[in-house]
Amino acid sequence: MIRNVLCIGAGYVGGPTMALIADRCPEVNVTVADINTQKIGQWNSDLLPVFEPGLDAVVKRARGRNLFFTELTPQSIAAAELIFICVNTPTKQYGEGAGMAADLQYWEKSARTILAHAKPGTVVVEKSTVPVRTAEAISRILNFERKGPHFQVLSNPEFLAEGSAVRDLEQPDRVLIGSELTEEGLAAARKLGWLYEHWVPKENILYTSVWSSELSKLTANAFLAQRVSSINAISALCEKTNADVTEISRAIGTDARIGPRFLEAGIGFGGSCFRKDILNLAYICGQFGLSEVGNYWMSVVRMNDYQISRFVKEILDRLFNTVADKKLAVFGFSFKPETNDTRDSPAIQVCTRLLQEQARLAISDPRALDNARKDLAGLPGDASSRVAYEPNPYLAAEGAHAIVLLTHWKDYKALDYERIYRSMQKPAFVFDGRNALDHERLFDLGFNVVPIGKSPRLHF
Ligand code: NAD
Ligand code: UDX
Repeated sequence: MIRNVLCIGAGYVGGPTMALIADRCPEVNVTVADINTQKIGQWNSDLLPVFEPGLDAVVKRARGRNLFFTELTPQSIAAAELIFICVNTPTKQYGEGAGMAADLQYWEKSARTILAHAKPGTVVVEKSTVPVRTAEAISRILNFERKGPHFQVLSNPEFLAEGSAVRDLEQPDRVLIGSELTEEGLAAARKLGWLYEHWVPKENILYTSVWSSELSKLTANAFLAQRVSSINAISALCEKTNADVTEISRAIGTDARIGPRFLEAGIGFGGSCFRKDILNLAYICGQFGLSEVGNYWMSVVRMNDYQISRFVKEILDRLFNTVADKKLAVFGFSFKPETNDTRDSPAIQVCTRLLQEQARLAISDPRALDNARKDLAGLPGDASSRVAYEPNPYLAAEGAHAIVLLTHWKDYKALDYERIYRSMQKPAFVFDGRNALDHERLFDLGFNVVPIGKSPRLHF
């Protein structure tokens, strides 16, 4: 039914999503284009720009067969019957709505490029996360000069989480397709649905209006982030009352109405989506005069910032009120395990604040050190010179006063902590920002252990 698909934007979403479509729909040619030529080079190499478990195999099966990574050309736009727009929509950093609204400049540029070269009748699919009613705006641009059958704009938000992107794409809880509720709109939605039906059961493909689809995406992220902030709020109370937040998560998670997922207390959520999408949601509420609703969602972000500040203050307090010139080993920098992505990682804020306190940091991470280097470049004063990037966690911990665990990579559980303890300054501390390690064992080895939302284990 469709022979040629184009995707504009070869990032964390565009690359893996299109690789999976190409893998599952061998009769469809899938071209993925990006203005970043270096990234296109990486997608065509053995070292993909995105680290995701299982992704290399999917790309290798389809690349060169019916999956092509290229620069964006007028020919590829003209050849496509269906065009996904999967460009970044970051928080706007300038002008009206700065710090809150989504920056739609990349989106709009893509739409204008499509208008210049696409065949009339091409279906345009917004996969980027966008404010409600963006499709309407894009549709106006695309249909300004109606040459023959006009462009249909669909909303098809992506729900994959990083680190499990391939699994999430292979077995999505649902695929959401929003369209105009006209004959042409519904026909366009069915075309897109046909692609997904290659591997997603029909009953898991939901059809809605465009506006509901756009708002569902922002709402899903806001709800997930809200759960993290809620359990983190309770973790602060646990620390004051000697209750244990892990026990509370287990106890409430068995209630079928609550469910067990997204109840892990920690140093707060990160990643390119949660903060950005809640800020955007709150901004939209403000635009519609719903300040109480906007404030409700903003409290989720405020709680997240509080959790990060609380964690840094705990480190300072426990390390005798100063970390100046003390070496601290940071375990993990990515915003979650199994990804090299560090966008809005809590590690950026934690490390920046520890550096402001004049600490010396040895940062370790299995995948994210290149991004960590970029994130911490250009800090004021001599801060950058006090950071070492050390892939080997044993070397990172050597001579350190404390281990600060920020990302719960499995590798960190399996380390020889007896050896690590011997190599550290005493008293040696572990600040477990993800409650990931075996606290009793670490305590028995001699460590002072400070978790989140439960009593610390201290030798004095
Ligand atoms: P990204 O920054 O990794 O990728 C976006 C890509 O678009 C970049 O490579 C950029 O060079 C390219 N681009 C920008 N303008 C372009 C243009 N005019 N022509 C061609 N290429 C262009 O971003 P991402 O993480 O893939 O996110 C993309 C969208 O998907 C965002 O709206 C995001 O909110 C949403 N989303 C992200 C995730 C996630 O886990 N990262 C999950 C669901 C939805
Ligand atoms: C999220 C959504 O889950 C996904 O559906 C959407 O498409 C994009 O945004 P992602 O940001 O990749 O995905 O990762 P996610 O697993 O949601 O984790 C986000 C952050 O919350 C991470 O920093 C993670 O460590 C934190 N988190 C998650 C917790 O602190 N506790 C939890 O229980 C769960």
